[in-house]
Amino acid sequence: MKLFNKEKSLNPRSGLYSSVWLAFISASVVAVLVTACGGSNNDTPDPALVAQGKDIFRFDTFGDETTWTDTLRMHEVIRTAVDPTTALAVGLKVDAEALPAAVVQGIQNGSISLTSPDTTVALLKLNAVVGVKGTVEVVNGKDTLTKVGITCALCHSTVDNSFAPGIGKRLDGWANRDLDPGLIISLSPALDATKKAVYSSWGKGKYDPRFNFDGKNGPQVIPPAYGLQGIHRITSTGDGEDVAYWNRYVSVTQMGGHGSFSDARTGVNVKNGTDDQVSSKLPALQAYQLSLAAPTAPAGSFDPAAAARGKLVFNQNGKCVTCHSGAVLTDANSLLHPISDVVSEPEAAGVPSYASRSATKMYRTAPLAGLWQHAPYFHNGSAATLEAVVQTYNTRKSLNLTNAEMADLVQYLKSL
Ligand code: HEC
Ligand code: HEC
Repeated sequence: MKLFNKEKSLNPRSGLYSSVWLAFISASVVAVLVTACGGSNNDTPDPALVAQGKDIFRFDTFGDETTWTDTLRMHEVIRTAVDPTTALAVGLKVDAEALPAAVVQGIQNGSISLTSPDTTVALLKLNAVVGVKGTVEVVNGKDTLTKVGITCALCHSTVDNSFAPGIGKRLDGWANRDLDPGLIISLSPALDATKKAVYSSWGKGKYDPRFNFDGKNGPQVIPPAYGLQGIHRITSTGDGEDVAYWNRYVSVTQMGGHGSFSDARTGVNVKNGTDDQVSSKLPALQAYQLSLAAPTAPAGSFDPAAAARGKLVFNQNGKCVTCHSGAVLTDANSLLHPISDVVSEPEAAGVPSYASRSATKMYRTAPLAGLWQHAPYFHNGSAATLEAVVQTYNTRKSLNLTNAEMADLVQYLKSL
């Protein structure tokens, strides 16, 4: 706007010449604004906003206790039946940095019981269970879990196991592929047997974010929430143009946070509560996710010489680059792909096509950063390893790659 005012003052009189100038200058201002804001995924994140977003990502329930406590009564299940051993077995993680020295010592010397639900309540009081937020109050002289809610970190954070398996430092953005969200939900006393059966069928690392609308059972692999900078198609079907689209969807329609979401393409239209606890948090939440870079492959986890050869296979004989193009190895910003293009469909017998349930009915070419870290692959997890991914492409796309080419290609994928 400064530029505009300055130029305007240079041409104070109206007239053809100055209006052409003004039009030109307004166009440049618009262009500048588009580069700066239109592609919000490319903004250099403001550190204060990122810090705020980190807090929201880890600890904010958006008021979803209404669902997890009032409706699903998970606080009753946790305080009576979920000891830390059970919690770890269903994939919940403990933030070691939230544990005071005395608790660390107690766990180490066995004086703190890992088979008592009271210990889970104590961990929740310390805010140490990743993605689960509890309110603990003294009832009849005893610490009691009176409310529980979930945060984004439940599915999209894990820990580095530095203290013990399932206990360590937080790794935000890493999908929790040990978590069995369906099994956890199925423990709710508020669900009927049919629903319980569906939830408990999903298994570890998977969740169906559309089941509660269309009643179809086709759980998705929980994806990482890192490495999304510069990608303007979010989710495996590219339903949203920015991270905030999905953040609004999931916080309101899946977590049960207070706020609203509607999308005419799918007919989903949900409003929870009258106090919007979601909208104002979306910019910070998005900034935090965009600040999360994909983790680089550890040295020694792949063979660099083979990876260099594999890059050529990726770009030439493998034809991978036709879709996995550009800096983030996806053409998602310009197009989506019909179901017939993808090698992960048809789904396994009896499972409905995921794309057909989505807003776009198509698939986004998946970005490939951090592949080494997040097996299994494809939206449905149909390829257990990168070897299986390459084998599938070779067969389904009739690539006729040699075994050596396929081995090199795998090393390249492991290096990304
Ligand atoms: C119960 C597990 C669960 C919770 C809680 C959850 N998500 Fe997700 N998230 C998923 C699943 C499953 C998908 C895949 C959806 C798809 O592709 O259609 C997903 C997709 C995403 C994506 C898209 C990634 C990509 O590659 O485009 C982002 C970003 C994301 N989630 C962030 C969040 C944030 C932020 C929150 C909290 C507001 C959140 N999620 C809460 C399970 C969860
Ligand atoms: C026609 C476009 C197209 C071509 C060609 C293509 N891909 Fe893909 N790729 C996709 C799409 C779309 C997805 C997402 C599919 C899904 O989610 O099920 C994907 C997913 C993947 C994934 C899974 C990523 C994840 O996070 O789960 C890997 C790995 C991959 N492709 C590697 C390759 C390799 C290697 C080649 C070459 C042999 C290749 N792709 C060729 C479009 C393509």
